[in-house]
Amino acid sequence: MALTIKYLLRYKRFLLLNLIGAFGFIVIELGIPTLLAQGISNNFDGRNPAYMTTLAVKMLICAVVGLILLLIMAYAIDRVTSLIVRDIRNDLFTHIQRFSADDYERFGVSRLITNTGNDAYMIMQFLTLILRTGFIAPLMLTSAFVLIFRQNVPLALISIGMTPIIFIAVYFINKRVHRLSAKQQKGLDNINQNMRENLTGLRVIRAFNKESFQTTRFASLNTTYRHISDEMYQKLAFISPIFSVVFCTILVLVINLGSLYISRGELSVGSLSGFIEYIFHALFSFLMLGNVLILYPRFEVSTSRIQEIFNTTPTILENPDGVQSNEHIGHLAFDHVSFSYGDGSEERVLDDISFTAEPGQVIAFIGSTGSGKSTLARLIPRLFDVSQGKILIDGVDVRDYQLQALRKKISYVPQKATLFAGTIRENLLFGDQSATDEDLASAVEIAQAKAFIDSLPEKYDTVLAEGGSNLSGGQKQRLCIARALVKKAPIYLFDDSFSALDYKTDANLRRRLNQELATTTMIIVAQRISTIRNADKIIVLNEGQIVGTGTHRELLITNAVYQEIAKSQLTEEELAI
Ligand SMILES: Nc1ncnc2c1ncn2[C@@H]1O[C@H](COP(=O)(O)OP(=O)(O)OP(=O)(O)O)[C@@H](O)[C@H]1O
Ligand SMILES: [Mg+2]
Repeated sequence: MALTIKYLLRYKRFLLLNLIGAFGFIVIELGIPTLLAQGISNNFDGRNPAYMTTLAVKMLICAVVGLILLLIMAYAIDRVTSLIVRDIRNDLFTHIQRFSADDYERFGVSRLITNTGNDAYMIMQFLTLILRTGFIAPLMLTSAFVLIFRQNVPLALISIGMTPIIFIAVYFINKRVHRLSAKQQKGLDNINQNMRENLTGLRVIRAFNKESFQTTRFASLNTTYRHISDEMYQKLAFISPIFSVVFCTILVLVINLGSLYISRGELSVGSLSGFIEYIFHALFSFLMLGNVLILYPRFEVSTSRIQEIFNTTPTILENPDGVQSNEHIGHLAFDHVSFSYGDGSEERVLDDISFTAEPGQVIAFIGSTGSGKSTLARLIPRLFDVSQGKILIDGVDVRDYQLQALRKKISYVPQKATLFAGTIRENLLFGDQSATDEDLASAVEIAQAKAFIDSLPEKYDTVLAEGGSNLSGGQKQRLCIARALVKKAPIYLFDDSFSALDYKTDANLRRRLNQELATTTMIIVAQRISTIRNADKIIVLNEGQIVGTGTHRELLITNAVYQEIAKSQLTEEELAI
């Protein structure tokens, strides 16, 4: 609730407008029955038509003013709720944007999507309801009770005496609903996750003939969700009848007792009809409050889910007092770096890694799959933080930079080629928004992507599907390389970025990179010896440890792990060199 109040207070103007609308509504809603009761009492036989006309005009004015005020209220509610949901979504997005890979993994992408979509929408629904009824219902209820007491005390006591039944029933129902609502939202997360996986893995699913398996899995999640929803709505369905039963009982008692009072001359017909009218207003306010109570547990669950995200401090913290800019030299040093994923208690993925890379050097990493090469690359731009030791760039610990400043120094091509929906040009400009057409053309030429872009009918304006799925693996890789080249940073990180290229393209690309990036620091992670054999320094990783450092020639002679990799890839002739 505190979260919602914080956002509500941003729009005090609209809240005031809402309050004005609500007050007018109450006066008029209760004003008309008061006028009606007066009319019935004073002029029941119709002998004073002038009085009736004045009364009718008064009632009409009440109705028109009421309508105008209602419109003002509706406008205020629409504005304030849509603005608040926009703010919540924007703030969530900005906050999530700062999450590290670890944080994403903890919550799961699907959950974060449900938070920004469904949970935020639930808050909007509840706010609309509470603003529509939050002021009106309690005020109307109080005024109705005051008027009821003024009409007849015994009747009023009977009516009010019955209401605790409703509160007790709603309290117990809502306790159950709260639990079910939490399960329901979790169920929605699962459905979203399954849907996402299904859509992104469509090709694999088809190739493995797993459509029916996936359909069954989805249907089962969907059924679980339906069961939870059914159970929840069944519980909620009790609330309305309880209201009706209690109010019908009140009405029966009031009419019976009221007629007795009338026959004894202790109550007028007008007063009884006014009383019944007020009872209906009280009922109406109760029903409005009932709707708020029905929605409240679900709102509470959605709010706490969103609050949990806001309460999560990203594990990679910005260093606001950090270095904003220093000289872009490109000197990189790992100083006894160790790392493990998660909270640091798991097995070490990198163990005591130390090396340096100077501008103009090509440093290559090779090692079997799972040896920690990608992990090592991810530590440099602080996608994860080291568990022990430190990484220095241009003499400064990466944690002592402001994140923007640090990442400006690094052009990173991740192992998994990631492109965005949009044109090729837009994707390339991701590297640097201010890049000119010549800059793009040069990057594309170096990345060996010119020929294939030129062959496309729309060239740079070719629209890429989500994730670049309308390109081949090698084309995607080349665009990712070009994007990194557009960024022009002093340190380049290529994480297995040449794996989907044929030997010739790979060779051409490396030749052009060596020419163009002669003064930068290049870190290349590769599986193929041919890709790295000319590197200034090759570092062999095995199970997170450095087991060899040297040039291709040196390692061929001295390093058993390297020899093994080399034997599996090179011919006898090549090995002999
Ligand atoms: N996000 C993660 N959370 C937990 N463990 C991870 C994560 N990413 C990788 N690992 C584990 O860390 C180890 C090193 O993985 P890494 O991706 O660095 O290997 P790699 O050398 O790049 O392998 P490959 O050549 O297959 O790309 C592996 O055992 C892997 O299971
Ligand atoms: Mg890897």
